[in-house]
Amino acid sequence: MNASIGKDLDFAARLLEQGALVAVPTETVYGLAGNGLSEEALLRIFKAKARPHFNPLIVHVASVALIASVADFVSPNAKLLASIFMPGPLTLLLPKSPSVPDLATAGSSLVAVRVPSHPMMQQLLTRLSFPLAAPSANPFGYISPTSAAHVAAQLGDQLDYILDGGECVVGLESTIVGFNAHDEVLIYRQGAVTAEDIERVTEKKPTLVIASGKPDAPGMLASHYAPKAKVLLGNIAELLKEHAGNNIAVLSFQKTQQTANHQEVLSPTGDLQEAARNLFAALRRLDALNPSMILTELVPDEGLGRAINDRLRRAAA
Ligand code: TXA
Ligand code: MG
Repeated sequence: MNASIGKDLDFAARLLEQGALVAVPTETVYGLAGNGLSEEALLRIFKAKARPHFNPLIVHVASVALIASVADFVSPNAKLLASIFMPGPLTLLLPKSPSVPDLATAGSSLVAVRVPSHPMMQQLLTRLSFPLAAPSANPFGYISPTSAAHVAAQLGDQLDYILDGGECVVGLESTIVGFNAHDEVLIYRQGAVTAEDIERVTEKKPTLVIASGKPDAPGMLASHYAPKAKVLLGNIAELLKEHAGNNIAVLSFQKTQQTANHQEVLSPTGDLQEAARNLFAALRRLDALNPSMILTELVPDEGLGRAINDRLRRAAA
């Protein structure tokens, strides 16, 4: 069986009401969605993704007002960030309400909540009477999908339908933030809502929680977002000299290289948003060529560039 791809919101809503799995478009990446309040649907999600049960899922709701339906407490800074950045590419870790099954949060007392801005996902959520639990719609450990075709290529046989909302405009997974006892902001995963954006709103520098690779620091498995091919990160020109003669693929930020067999440029004009939007699709295209390795380089380490570099480092880990 291979899931059909389409734009039928009624069909998608009906399937989800029946406990089925539907891939959904968001502004960040595609999600593999199921009824977030149904243990059966949640189990299906973990199985389809071959995802360990200790890795909790993000719960998606239609509006900031609906956050209260899954979270028991929204701190002042959480409210502030929600009012500015939601709907959008931000996920908040908040004390979970009893209505959310423990399976969704992997037993944690915190629930990850997101209000996606993608118009089609907004319409879908508005039609449903329950939140949607959705991890990124890729096999565990692989690069996240930014188009319906990416989802179909890898998880098509695990899904009931793929809702096609076009290419994701952000292209990187949401920024995940939590709050300590003093309501200070902790960034667990970098994304399009940057540390600078957060600081501007809270007037305090958020703390970046470093990847530990331990399952108790979810979202932070060091080797994640990785293509099949080995990825080497550094100075592309030097790496090319070192590995001359191999079937090399190059993923560069702005400039093309003469001697590479295959190459992708993330943004010829050096635009970080364009680079983020192209990153996963470019990695997939190169990976599909079965190169002996993919050589790549960091982008400027500022704003959105930090989230891109985070993904590049994980792809190379
Ligand atoms: O942009 C996104 O966030 C996409 C779209 C589909 O919304 N979703 C996404 O989900 O990236 P996923 O499952 O691939 O990544 C979510 C991360 C996981 O690494 C998970 O460990 C972490 O969020 N997470 C979820 N619930 C958590 C919780 N209760 N406590 C700590 N981390 C949590
Ligand atoms: Mg993921």
